[in-house]
Amino acid sequence: MKEFKRTLITTALPYANGPVHIGHLAGVYVPADIYARYLRLKGEEVLMIGGSDEHGVPITIKAKNEGVTPQDIVDRYHKIIKDSFDGLGISFDVYGRTTSDTHRKTASDFFKKLYEKGEFIEKASMQLYDEEAGQFLADRYVTGTCPHCGNEHAYGDQCEACGTSLNATDLINPKSAITGNTPILKETTHFYLPLDKWQSRLEEWILKDHKEWKSNVYGQCKSWLEMGLQPRAVSRDLDWGIPVPVEGAEGKVLYVWFDAPIGYISNTIDLVGEDYTKWWKDPETRMLHFIGKDNIVFHCIVFPSMLMADGTYNLPDNVPANEFLNLEDDKISTSRNWAVWVHEYLEEFPGKQDVLRYVLTANAPETKDNNFTWKDFQMRNNSELVAILGNFVNRAVVLTHKYFNGVLPEAGNLTEAEEKLIEEIRNLKKEMSEALDTFHFREALRLAMDMARAGNKYLQETEPWKVAKTDMARTATILNTAIQTCANLSIAFEPFLPFMSAKLVKMLGGDKISWDMLGCFDLVPTGAKIGEPELLFEKIEDSAVEAQVQKLLDTKKANELKAWKPEPVKEDVDFETFEKVDIRVGKVLECSKVKKSKKLLQFLIEDGMGTRTILSGIAQSYEDPSVLVGKEICFVANFAPRKMMGIESQGMIMSAVNPDGTLTVIGPTGPVQPGAQVG
Ligand code: 2FM
Ligand code: ZN
Repeated sequence: MKEFKRTLITTALPYANGPVHIGHLAGVYVPADIYARYLRLKGEEVLMIGGSDEHGVPITIKAKNEGVTPQDIVDRYHKIIKDSFDGLGISFDVYGRTTSDTHRKTASDFFKKLYEKGEFIEKASMQLYDEEAGQFLADRYVTGTCPHCGNEHAYGDQCEACGTSLNATDLINPKSAITGNTPILKETTHFYLPLDKWQSRLEEWILKDHKEWKSNVYGQCKSWLEMGLQPRAVSRDLDWGIPVPVEGAEGKVLYVWFDAPIGYISNTIDLVGEDYTKWWKDPETRMLHFIGKDNIVFHCIVFPSMLMADGTYNLPDNVPANEFLNLEDDKISTSRNWAVWVHEYLEEFPGKQDVLRYVLTANAPETKDNNFTWKDFQMRNNSELVAILGNFVNRAVVLTHKYFNGVLPEAGNLTEAEEKLIEEIRNLKKEMSEALDTFHFREALRLAMDMARAGNKYLQETEPWKVAKTDMARTATILNTAIQTCANLSIAFEPFLPFMSAKLVKMLGGDKISWDMLGCFDLVPTGAKIGEPELLFEKIEDSAVEAQVQKLLDTKKANELKAWKPEPVKEDVDFETFEKVDIRVGKVLECSKVKKSKKLLQFLIEDGMGTRTILSGIAQSYEDPSVLVGKEICFVANFAPRKMMGIESQGMIMSAVNPDGTLTVIGPTGPVQPGAQVG
């Protein structure tokens, strides 16, 4: 394996048109942060680059919908996103934005250089154009039917149902997202990057030289390459973006996927200035792109082609892309608000950043799509963080206070029990390092938790609370070993749970930690004052997760309402026909469920002339039918009598059908005499 001097970690730049959610965290930012923290602990030279992606059509659509400028939108979400990452301890060395001056210049210069080198093809083609809006319809400005899977809501750049990447002109029955009109075709000229020119170099570089890449990444690249690469347009007719820096190209901007990855370079420049070449061009620097699976083609094919066209940059050494995280068995979706938003989590679960980091890593979608549920969140907190890790540290610290006033006693001769524990922790360190080095973060976290398990087992076996009755020297050895184990845990968990680790380091009176120190049992010096025992994690109650599940159920309901459309109106009836139906107001005297029937309610109605019994199939909509007693309702008085479950029904109760299929009995809005006719 090639040796590198330093590592540049880039993380996909999230679009600044919405907040970030747990899917973003699990797929990209938590794994990247774990890796960056691990390398820093090893004392390696590392930069972790992040930033907001502030161009692209969705941002302009959102601005238009809200009646504000695209700049307003990106200013708002850049702040929310940046604060979310800060709050969760994602340790970027820089978090920039693609509307910065540095980025505008870097991206513009990058394009100009390629243009001057003759790396683009200029080509006129017919593109979709909205005559009313006076605008070409790129990417998400147009929706229509996907030619591959028939999904009627595919976008001009991608079908989200089948994942195929599309050209706007591929769509069947296209419609403008601005006016809803059917667009016409109009000629326009664009700049294309001929990806086909780089096909054989890409094949060599990925398929031959990077067989070690994750199989999901390698497989996707292979299938793109097998399909044969085509020239790809890198400019758009839009007014939001970086102007194409070529004379005669007025009104055209760089395609968002051309400028966004250059954002990694601009943000590095913002951080280190001219020294950026060391990070981008020195072959002894290793570059890693952390991304989600929808970004694979851009980071493995398109951006590398841009870098090769420039000719002076390194190519990424690895692209450890993750699959997707679902939420409660449903796809996370910004537009459907089906997400756990990071800024809301931080507000609703203050001080619990590590719990989310833990659960997202334990369930990371490393090899396949995975699922987040609030039940699992609670279970992992209560039975892993609290019961294993928190419990071990708490026992070690409490016992040290109890028997030695919180002053670390000296260890005497080690017995087999200590030697076994030390060996186990050293073995686990070795396995953890291997897992981390190969981006297997779930596995690495499981191994770290095994260290805490080993600590608990050690205390269970050595029973210092019993030994203390007869042998304080031996008790000292056990508790010294337990506290050294806590110090080991503060290192092993730092990449995953940095807040807990900092608290633990402080509790043990420590200062700096490093990966080298992991496996050592003299980390806390004899005589050190151990801080007061503080709980590292606390139990999460049912009510807290139930509130979150309820929030999602409310979202589901709101989405159903949004998607609901009334039934089409039935064909016309004349007055005589209408008049035949005798609708009256009645007062409910009694209402109860019909025995042995799931559906039927039995009403006793005062109808102005006497009383009548009516059966209605609405029992599933009324958990407690007595709520209807005393209410005035409408019923069809001349509905021919029918017998059901042995009871004669003399009319029909009128109810409205709700979007979720439940029924609500309807009645007058003010006082009306029972028996009054409705018409
Ligand atoms: O998919 C996305 O959210 C894009 N904004 C990612 C861009 S990554 C990089 F190229 F900047
Ligand atoms: Zn499709």
